Amino acid sequence: MAFWNRRRSIDAMTAPHSGPALKKTLGWPHLMALGVGAIVGTGILTLIGVGAGLAGPAVMVSFAMAGLVCACAALAYAELSTMMPTAGSAYTYSYAVLGELIAWIVGWSLILEYSLVVSAVAVGWAGYATPFLHGIGIDLPLALTAGPHAGGIINLPAVFIIGVVTGLLLLGTRESATVNVVLVLIKIAALAVFVFIALPMFDASHFQPFMPNGFGSPQLPFMEQITGHPAVAQTGVMAAAAIIFFAFYGFDAISTAAEETKKPERDLAIGIVGSMLVCTALYLLVAAAAIGARPVSEFASSTEPLSLILRELGSPWAAQVVAGAAVIALPTVLLAFLFGQSRIFLGMARDGLLPRRLAHVSVRGVPAVVTVFTAVVVAVLAGLLPLDELASLANAGTLCAFAAVGVCLMVLRVRDPGRKRMFRAPLWWLVGTITIVGCLLFFFSLRPFTQTAFFIWNGIGLVIYLAWSAWNSRLAKGEEAEG
Ligand code: ALA
Repeated sequence: MAFWNRRRSIDAMTAPHSGPALKKTLGWPHLMALGVGAIVGTGILTLIGVGAGLAGPAVMVSFAMAGLVCACAALAYAELSTMMPTAGSAYTYSYAVLGELIAWIVGWSLILEYSLVVSAVAVGWAGYATPFLHGIGIDLPLALTAGPHAGGIINLPAVFIIGVVTGLLLLGTRESATVNVVLVLIKIAALAVFVFIALPMFDASHFQPFMPNGFGSPQLPFMEQITGHPAVAQTGVMAAAAIIFFAFYGFDAISTAAEETKKPERDLAIGIVGSMLVCTALYLLVAAAAIGARPVSEFASSTEPLSLILRELGSPWAAQVVAGAAVIALPTVLLAFLFGQSRIFLGMARDGLLPRRLAHVSVRGVPAVVTVFTAVVVAVLAGLLPLDELASLANAGTLCAFAAVGVCLMVLRVRDPGRKRMFRAPLWWLVGTITIVGCLLFFFSLRPFTQTAFFIWNGIGLVIYLAWSAWNSRLAKGEEAEG
C-alpha cells in the first residue's frame, strides 16, 4: 500500500502478550493523584504571569477554555489508550487509524513537545530556584542565571537541573507512586498557602478593565510576508489560552495506567475528568487570588510570579515556602517528560521509522544515546531561550498531537463501531469536535513566529521521512502485517 496509507493493525498491536499481567490495584483516587502530579507545574507557577500579561484579568477565561479542551482531549486519550495500551500514545493511535505519514508527523511533533516541555519546565524551575537561593544567602550573578534575552549569558540553574534529572534517568529511576503522592501534596500545599494568604487581600478593582486586550483572533503563519503588513502582536484571551494550555497537559500519565485500574470504565472517567476539574478549579482560584491581590502589571513579567506576590503582600516566609515547593516538586515533571520523550523515540525506532541502533537500550533499560542527546539539546535551549518561546513551541507540538487524537477517536467510532472498548468517551462526537476545533483555534492563536517554527520543524521531519523512513519502516519492508 502507498506509504501515506500504510496502517498498523490494531488486532496485531493488541494481541494478548505472554508476559505477566499487571496487578489491578488502582482506584480513581490513585488516578487523580497521578494526573494532578503530572499536570501541576510551571504552567500555574510561572506562565500564569505571561497569560495575565496577554489577557489581563480575563486570563481566568483562558484557563477555563484550556481546561475544557484538555478535558475533551483527555477523554479521547482514555478511549484510545485502553483500546491500544502501547507506550507510543498519540503516535501509535495515529499509525493504526490515520496511516504512517500522519503518524510520522504526530511522532515528530511529540518529540518537539516532550523536548521543549523539559526546557520550559527547567527554565520555570530556575525562575524559582534562583530567588530561593538568594533567600538563604546564596547569590548567583545575573550573567549565569538568565539567557541573553534577559541581559545574561546563560541560565545555568536550568542547565543544572536538566543534568540532574538526566543522571537520575540514566540510573534507571522511575516515578514511584509513593513519591508521587508526597510531591502532589507538596504542590497542592504550596498553592493552598498562596491562596490563603493572597485571597484575603482581594481587591475587586484589580479586575477592571477585565479584558484590556480583547478576545483576540487566530492568525496564520507567514501573514507578514503575504500581506506586507507587520504581524500584529498576538494578545488577548485566545493568545493567553494558547500559552496557558501548557498548564494542563501531562495527563496521559493516567491513561497509561489503564491496565492496572480496578474498574477502568468508571475509574478512568472519574480520574481523568476529576483531575481536570481539580486542576481547573485550583488554577482559577490561584488566578483569582493573584489578580485580586496585586495588579496584573506587577507580576506579568516575573520569573516567579506567585512568590513575588507573596513578598509584595509582606509574607517573605510564604514566598520562600512556595519557591521551596517548586524546587522540590518540579523535577518530577521533568523526569516524566524526558522519560516520555525516549519512549516516543523508542516506539518510532522499533517501527523502523528512525534508525534502530539509536534506540539501543542500556543494561539499566534506558535508551542512553537518545536520552543524553536529547538532554544536551534541551539544556542548550533552556540555557539560552525565554520560557514563553519554549512553552509556545511545546504547545504547538502538543496541539498537533491532541488534534490527531480527536480525529482518531471520531474516525474509529465510525469505521469500527463494534470494536470492544474498555472505556467509552461520553458524547464522542462532541468530545472529538471540541478537541479538534479547540486545538486548531489555540494553534492559530500562537504567535506567527511559533507557528512558522513548528512548520519548519515538520518540514525537516518530512524530508527525513521521505528520504529514509518511508523506505525503512517495518510495514514498508513487510516485517509486520498491515491493518
Ligand atoms: N503541565 C505541566 C506544567 O505546567 C507541563 O509544568
